[in-house]
Amino acid sequence: MSTFGKFQRVSTKTLALMKGEGKKIAALTAYDFITAKLLDEAGIDLILVGDSLGNVFQGNETTLPVTMDEMIYHTKAVAKGVSRAMLITDLPFMSYQLRIDEAFRNAGRIVKETPAGGVKIEGGKRVAETIRKITENGIPVMGHLGLTPQSIHKFGSYKQRGTEEDEANEIVEDAKILEEAGAFAVVLEKIPKELAKRVTDSLTIPTIGIGAGPWCDGQILVTPDMLGLNKEFHPKFLRYYANMAEVLDGAFRQYIDDVRENTFPSIDESY
Ligand code: KIV
Repeated sequence: MSTFGKFQRVSTKTLALMKGEGKKIAALTAYDFITAKLLDEAGIDLILVGDSLGNVFQGNETTLPVTMDEMIYHTKAVAKGVSRAMLITDLPFMSYQLRIDEAFRNAGRIVKETPAGGVKIEGGKRVAETIRKITENGIPVMGHLGLTPQSIHKFGSYKQRGTEEDEANEIVEDAKILEEAGAFAVVLEKIPKELAKRVTDSLTIPTIGIGAGPWCDGQILVTPDMLGLNKEFHPKFLRYYANMAEVLDGAFRQYIDDVRENTFPSIDESY
């Protein structure tokens, strides 16, 4: 049995209890109502409206163009399908970096204008005071360390992070700083599994890994990626749970043939 009743909403407290009890947290992203509803009904613990929507929904090369208004638009759609999972929304690039009061106002917009239960912010020490301000005012914040896609132009590639000792130590230190600043969980993206374990063991808050090995407290994937919608994207850490590109391609081709051959609609499918 889970830590919570069937219709009770997953909260930061639930996730903390799950870490305490050694129960793994299952998280995925969503950007639309129907996917969110299916995820929620399947029993997912946490749904992230990730700014990865900039890549997988909008077709951009990076997450940088995503705006606050777009995050709010998608979160409103996703929220209509969610009754049990915890719902978290990414603060997009330039919505929290400039000033702490602006970051707080934007986090406030997310929880005031949508039913999201918190926000996610990328970065370590440099965002600690921002996280403190937001969490002290009652808005849960999830951190994000390792490969942080909003810093892609600094990194120069989407390669693994934390392979050098200095950067590994910085990630461990940053994670502790985020916990101390009030974050309720930390996403660890694309770092060595041993480093993710070191971070996980050193924190009381849960770690949610993506490309960070099996010893995190939970796992998250970008839903269109794990559904196999983009055949060109297959990093080592990604497991395909379906081959939706093939399923959809088959359905689209069949429909086109049926229309061209006038076998759709049939008389039975007509009024
Ligand atoms: O934007 C996103 O989807 C994310 C996940 C990869 C954790 O940040």
